[in-house]
Amino acid sequence: MGFLGGLFGRRKKEILPPADLSLLGTDVHSHFIPGIDDGAKTMEDSLSMLRTMQEFGYKKVITTPHIMSDFYRNTPEIILSGLDKLREAAHKENIDITIEAAAEYYLDIELEDKIRKKELLTFGNNYVLFEMPFVGEPKNLSRAIFEMQMAGYKPVLAHVERYLFWHREPEKAQTLFDKGVILQLNLNSLSGHYSPQVQKSAEQLLDSEIIGLLGTDCHNMGHLELLKQSSTLPYFHKAMKINNLLNHSL
Ligand SMILES: [Fe+2]
Repeated sequence: MGFLGGLFGRRKKEILPPADLSLLGTDVHSHFIPGIDDGAKTMEDSLSMLRTMQEFGYKKVITTPHIMSDFYRNTPEIILSGLDKLREAAHKENIDITIEAAAEYYLDIELEDKIRKKELLTFGNNYVLFEMPFVGEPKNLSRAIFEMQMAGYKPVLAHVERYLFWHREPEKAQTLFDKGVILQLNLNSLSGHYSPQVQKSAEQLLDSEIIGLLGTDCHNMGHLELLKQSSTLPYFHKAMKINNLLNHSL
């Protein structure tokens, strides 16, 4: 921070024109299937969000309901039948966006069971989106990643920037990257929506060039309003220019 910045506190946020989200093509993380997790509550909610995603320029969404043994006991059957209903409703409303579904798997013991039974919902090139608890690194992290890879899955860690216990150990994300785990970043983290620390972590991860996928992690319309605002930030523009971003291949 320069002399004037020091006098007047934090420098003002630089604002750019909104980034063109149509360049991403596909979103890989959201909660659009109504009534089965903490995302869309009704079909109306889902359709409003899908309509807005289409207006933003997205061509496709891969929606990822939570599967968590303690809270959201979703199964592939529940998710795929929800997907059918969502597609039908979107089609009736002339919403022109391709909708696919996978899941956001919470890393618990039941996930390891599902890996062994090879019953995971995947997207793209056998990608599996998984998340960790926010309280601390799970003991079975390395084992679960290894098991997924041995079973032919390609693990994708959801919102890698949001795990507070890793903020003082940025090398952890690099280690996962080196093991072949694809790191997904939430675009809204760049606005400070989750916390200033999460924003800083997201910026550092972008600087390290280890992010492979970008997602909205959209649960409600508020997240999309925020996405629109965030799209004027320099780091948002930087995210859109990631080399070999996998969103383009889906
Ligand atoms: Fe999510």
